[in-house]
Amino acid sequence: MYRTHHCGELRLSDLDKTVTLSGWASVIRDKGSLLWIDLRDRYGITQLVFDEAYTDAALFDIARSIGREFVLQATGTVIERTSKTTKIETGEIEIKVTEMRVLNASKTPPFTIQDDTDGGDELRLKYRYLDLRRNAVQKNLIFRSNLAIETRKYLAAQGFIEVETPNLIKSTPEGARDFVVPSRMNKGQFYALPQSPQTFKQILMVAGFDKYFQIVKCFRDEDLRADRQPEFTQIDCEMSFVHQEDILNTFEGLTKSLFKSTLGVDLPDFPRMTYDEAFIRFGSDKPDLRFGMEFVNLSDVAKGKGFPVFDGAETILAICAPGCAGYSRKQLDELTEWLKRPQIGAKGLVYVKMEADGSIKSSVDKFYSPEDLKVWTDRAGAQTGDLLLVLCGEDEKTHKQLNELRLEMGTRLDLRKGDDFKPLWVVDFPLLEWDEDANRFFAMHHPFTSPKPGDIVKMESDDKALLKSIRADAYDLVLNGVEIGGGSIRIHDRDLQSRNFKLLGFTPEEAEAQFGFLLGAFEYGAPPHGGIAFGFDRLSAVMNGAGSIRDFIAFPKNNQGRDMMIDAPSGIKAEQLKELGIDVVGE
Ligand code: AMO
Repeated sequence: MYRTHHCGELRLSDLDKTVTLSGWASVIRDKGSLLWIDLRDRYGITQLVFDEAYTDAALFDIARSIGREFVLQATGTVIERTSKTTKIETGEIEIKVTEMRVLNASKTPPFTIQDDTDGGDELRLKYRYLDLRRNAVQKNLIFRSNLAIETRKYLAAQGFIEVETPNLIKSTPEGARDFVVPSRMNKGQFYALPQSPQTFKQILMVAGFDKYFQIVKCFRDEDLRADRQPEFTQIDCEMSFVHQEDILNTFEGLTKSLFKSTLGVDLPDFPRMTYDEAFIRFGSDKPDLRFGMEFVNLSDVAKGKGFPVFDGAETILAICAPGCAGYSRKQLDELTEWLKRPQIGAKGLVYVKMEADGSIKSSVDKFYSPEDLKVWTDRAGAQTGDLLLVLCGEDEKTHKQLNELRLEMGTRLDLRKGDDFKPLWVVDFPLLEWDEDANRFFAMHHPFTSPKPGDIVKMESDDKALLKSIRADAYDLVLNGVEIGGGSIRIHDRDLQSRNFKLLGFTPEEAEAQFGFLLGAFEYGAPPHGGIAFGFDRLSAVMNGAGSIRDFIAFPKNNQGRDMMIDAPSGIKAEQLKELGIDVVGE
């Protein structure tokens, strides 16, 4: 028997028991006549003790030869520690070892396997098996496992059926770029890996499955960020005979239940906000509601006072940073430089300080009287000690820039706490999004999303503005400023779907070639249906207040989309390429 107990299990109540533990040597402390080894496994750490006073000399020699990460099996007696610790759960006891076997030696690991490791990101990804030994990472994956189990339990109890959909499918021009897989048996042809099971789940509704879900891998060849991986996991769901309201209620229920069962947190009912409102109030379709600093529009009161920058601007917007009037010149300059970086692209920053002595000071005192400025600060609800930060420019750009500034100020003021959860539904997304470069409309969500019934007539129009104003039955679940999920009520009528494809610039032939199977299925009695997909990695990360989804993925890719451990992607042999019918020289 390798072990009688695991390394997180023994307590004072186990005193004098003879036990056997197996695990990895974590910290080793050698004080000459006394030696301690922290033995670690998935469950915790137990201290082994060797004392020249009572340990057999041969055993002591073995103990001295142990290096970090050796795999050991130790047998001994549970004794009370003289210096107890509350840092670990077994901190009141230790094992007086009588027998020990080295089950396997280990090279010295390239970084320490501790909560605060000294390993950089790339090194940890290369040696992911060592990184995964760390308690902090194991905890994340255990959380993720629980979240998946609880998801299945909840959805199964609601009558959902889990169906697997294929991974080798067909490339489509919409959405992100596809990862493609050459077909050996059909030379010159390619499968694509699914960006989501969207069309398959709709087909399942046509097939009468009624309530479908799948915890499923999706693949998107897009630029990577902290919250994006080329392969990621969705909780993908679809329901028949539902309106938007039914979907929102069902998945608000799922989210609340997951918070309760995995974190013990009770979430209140989720507020709802339209896409337009979110943009006006926060400059974003995924506002972080953990803090205020809502946008204040000063366009009507700040123009016409002779300040050319504002006079020439389409929009003038402000946020009120609480308690920041004390910001020094240097701090404000630094903030201005931060805003001017190409990633944000603001031209400059105007500020107004509500000084402690009741006076108002600004960077535009030359153009505005204290009375003028008071109109601004009143509108922003600013109090003594607050700082108004003002941006101007084109309407959409200014909203987006001020959104970045708002989030940055929220972070600097520590208003974005990881254990504070503020979910919301953003609803009424536009159906279409105009792409200036491509000179065409794209589907804001995806081409299967249904316009609001009252807006269907607008689809016949040629007027760009009118087309832009079409609203969809589309919604996002946002949590702490992160888009956790998105979905829509679908089009289930063949003619309406064809009309939508036409708006998106598909010829009837292209629509038929790409999505003929779906259009065909719609001719055989498609029920009204709709659904949603949650980003499972994102949900795991946000629920734990973590900034990166990588920490919740067992084997993530780095920012260049590489798996550092297996060194992929890699070249393939020329004969493999030939066999696949790809006309390039390999390796
Ligand atoms: P959507 O494209 O909005 O919708 O994706 C749903 C959710 O998946 C997560 N997500 C990602 N997570 C990590 N890395 C990525 N690269 C990535 N891309 C997306 C997000 C997002 O909200 N078929 C539709 C859903 C539907 O309409 O039912 C879809 O895939 O959290």
